[in-house]
Amino acid sequence: MSLLEVDNLSIHLRGGRTLVESVSLTVNAGEIVGIAGESGSGKTVTAMTSLGFLPAGATATGEVRIDGADMLSMRPKQLQAVRGSDVAMVFQDPMTSLHPMLNIGTQLTEHLRVHQGLKRKQAWARAAELLELVRLPDPHSALSAFPHRFSGGMRQRIAIAMALACGPKLLIADEITTALDVTVQAGILDLLDRLRRETGMAVVFITHDLAVMNVVADRLYVMYGGRMAENGSISQVLNSTRHPYTRALIDALPEGAALGKALVPIPGEAATPDRRPSGCAFHPRCVFAVDSCRADVPRLRELEDGHLAACAVDPFGALPDRAQLLDIALATPKDPRVAS
Ligand SMILES: Nc1ncnc2c1ncn2[C@@H]1O[C@H](COP(=O)(O)OP(=O)(O)O)[C@@H](O)[C@H]1O
Ligand code: SF4
Ligand SMILES: [Mg+2]
Repeated sequence: MSLLEVDNLSIHLRGGRTLVESVSLTVNAGEIVGIAGESGSGKTVTAMTSLGFLPAGATATGEVRIDGADMLSMRPKQLQAVRGSDVAMVFQDPMTSLHPMLNIGTQLTEHLRVHQGLKRKQAWARAAELLELVRLPDPHSALSAFPHRFSGGMRQRIAIAMALACGPKLLIADEITTALDVTVQAGILDLLDRLRRETGMAVVFITHDLAVMNVVADRLYVMYGGRMAENGSISQVLNSTRHPYTRALIDALPEGAALGKALVPIPGEAATPDRRPSGCAFHPRCVFAVDSCRADVPRLRELEDGHLAACAVDPFGALPDRAQLLDIALATPKDPRVAS
């Protein structure tokens, strides 16, 4: 059984708009699983719904299980208990989790006292340990400082320490390195990798940036227009890409241009729930689109072991191997006009 199992999740708003359609994903203990896609593709709403935070007025169908617990049918009190112990979330802006008027120690220890019943002294000692775990310099003096004293990268480390306070089995990290410069970003990615190795915690890492994803994730899900476009191991998805949208995201990476390749921005605008084209939502921007792409929503198909893509055309499909080519050649009737 996986730690997080999202099965055929759809999220509908009142009035009929669909934010997310038939999304499935799994996360195992100790794994870092990425969710990528342009802004508006449904990454955050999928993650938030998995924790039982549905957008106002929305309904969800399908199943979400965390450690076997059914997140979509839980009562608010039960959900709160799961969120306070099994799962935690960190966002792009660390100030979402940090209160500007309270010192770090007060914020960290409150969590430890409320959720774990630690006494004041024990809680301060544990808080210092958590800051040490996220490699914040001088943790003891940091406890009595206020958030504004720290840089963006340090605040993000503190927000991660807060998330770790409950000893979660699953951490959802939503664009947590997006606002940071490259060196600070690298430090945070290292930290996540170390934490999952040391604690066995699983991480859902959400970013639109495939270059960052390539550094940190074991497996990758690529979303477009609220649907799953492609998923597999990081190497399957990024090195043997099968979906034109994933290919377009890779070609749009500035890193490609740095290697001497031309940067090719994806033409047109990303699909949103208000503007989701018929059939394959990517068809207006896809150079491989054929007539049927405009009418039929492509099914997510397994193309090789654990590698799935939702493309009816599959333009990057593997070429037949040599043995298959020989079979094809032998089976093809010879042209009688050609002398043997
Ligand atoms: N509470 C909401 N009400 C209406 N639309 C929403 C709500 N939350 C998200 N959306 C819409 O759902 C789409 C997916 O949003 P989101 O999951 O935030 O995308 P991502 O995280 O991939 O950028 C967006 O077009 C967004 O405008
Ligand atoms: S189904 Fe058609 S439009 Fe969609 S990605 Fe594949 S080729 Fe492009
Ligand atoms: Mg988002």
